[in-house]
Amino acid sequence: MKTILVTGGAGFIGSNFIRFAFEKAGFKGRIVNLDKLTYAGNPENLADIARKYKGRYVFQKGDICDFKLLGGLFKKYDLSLVVHFAAESHVDRSIFGPKDFIETNIHGTFALLETARQAWAGRKDVRFHHVSTDEVYGSLGRTGKFKETTPYDPRSPYSASKASSDHLARAYAHTYGLPVTISNCSNNYGPFHFPEKLIPLAILNALEGKSLPVYGDGLQVRDWLYVADHCAAIWKIANKGRAGETYNVGGNCEMKNIDVVKGICAALERAVPARYNKALGGKKYTDLITYVKDRAGHDRRYAIDFSKIEKELGWQPSVRFAEGLGRTVDWYLANPAWVNNVKTGAYRNWLKKNYSAK
Ligand code: NAD
Ligand code: DAU
Repeated sequence: MKTILVTGGAGFIGSNFIRFAFEKAGFKGRIVNLDKLTYAGNPENLADIARKYKGRYVFQKGDICDFKLLGGLFKKYDLSLVVHFAAESHVDRSIFGPKDFIETNIHGTFALLETARQAWAGRKDVRFHHVSTDEVYGSLGRTGKFKETTPYDPRSPYSASKASSDHLARAYAHTYGLPVTISNCSNNYGPFHFPEKLIPLAILNALEGKSLPVYGDGLQVRDWLYVADHCAAIWKIANKGRAGETYNVGGNCEMKNIDVVKGICAALERAVPARYNKALGGKKYTDLITYVKDRAGHDRRYAIDFSKIEKELGWQPSVRFAEGLGRTVDWYLANPAWVNNVKTGAYRNWLKKNYSAK
């Protein structure tokens, strides 16, 4: 049976990817999800998948920096594909405490690459897919887009750590011939997004009548991609992409932050009109928008040229922003238990109960 190792599969994109592989891509083999369960990892994201695919879905709690554990997993499961999501992912956290970013994103990626090199010993029928970010390219002016050939210019501890991991992945492909692919993707949004990031934070704050913090002047531009579209791109690259290549992935959806927040207010007004939401005390959702101090070193604009993956692999984003945002708002409204568990940290108790012995 073909076995895929997914790292960081209890996080936002990783959990959506595992769901996508089983439910949409029709994957018939086994997935081993290796996750340290940091504050961002929540096995509840895959509780239904764990039940439905018992035997074909295996959860392994652990750290990607742990060579011994990694070596054991390669041996035990005869892995033929690694899809590497595990990372510290939040830019603000990297500004206030970069250490974990260096450890997981750089040392952890090195440990995985080195273990794969030793375990696969020159095999070409295997693949290591490294999931990365458009932030490695730095910040754009008013025009232009990031291409795969754009020189790296990371500007936060987070993006510097991801850039470093990309360089290591590329070096392993070039020096050792390890069959590596890399994807550099723009901002994702959708179900299971941890509410420290702009979109889920704004949705949940607005529902509770709390302020919607907009950093600086709110005119920074991000390119938004619905998470299922990112998963589809990764699936294509990992299975059909050319070894040694990098593919940019984006949503063709440049938005100013202030417009994203106003879009969330409009989507919420449709789903839960402010006049029926007691937490607002008579205010409109947009009254909650509050301009706050800017993020240190805040990148101004990101935009992605994804013509390479479009031409080579026939991938395109399929979910338009208004539709994706509507689906996302609906998901948070339909999952109050998940929201409550994440907000109160209650899922940590569930986690202790179910995973303490492993
Ligand atoms: P996330 O923070 O939601 O999830 C990260 C997961 O990695 C968590 O489950 C966490 O427990 C796990 N993890 C952290 N350190 C670990 C370690 N040392 N060992 C094992 N597991 C560990 O992140 P996300 O938003 O899902 O991002 C996943 C990947 O995609 C990251 O590599 C990120 O750089 C990249 N990416 C994210 C976006 C985005 O918009 N979120 C866009 C482009 C690329
Ligand atoms: O571009 C891809 C990257 O997108 C990924 O590599 C990162 O892992 C992911 O976290 C995301 O990074 P951002 O910093 O762009 O995402 P975040 O949601 O934190 O912020 C989006 C924009 O909104 C950014 O310009 C900062 C701003 N912002 C963010 C928060 C949390 C606000 O104005 N207010 C907020 O409260």
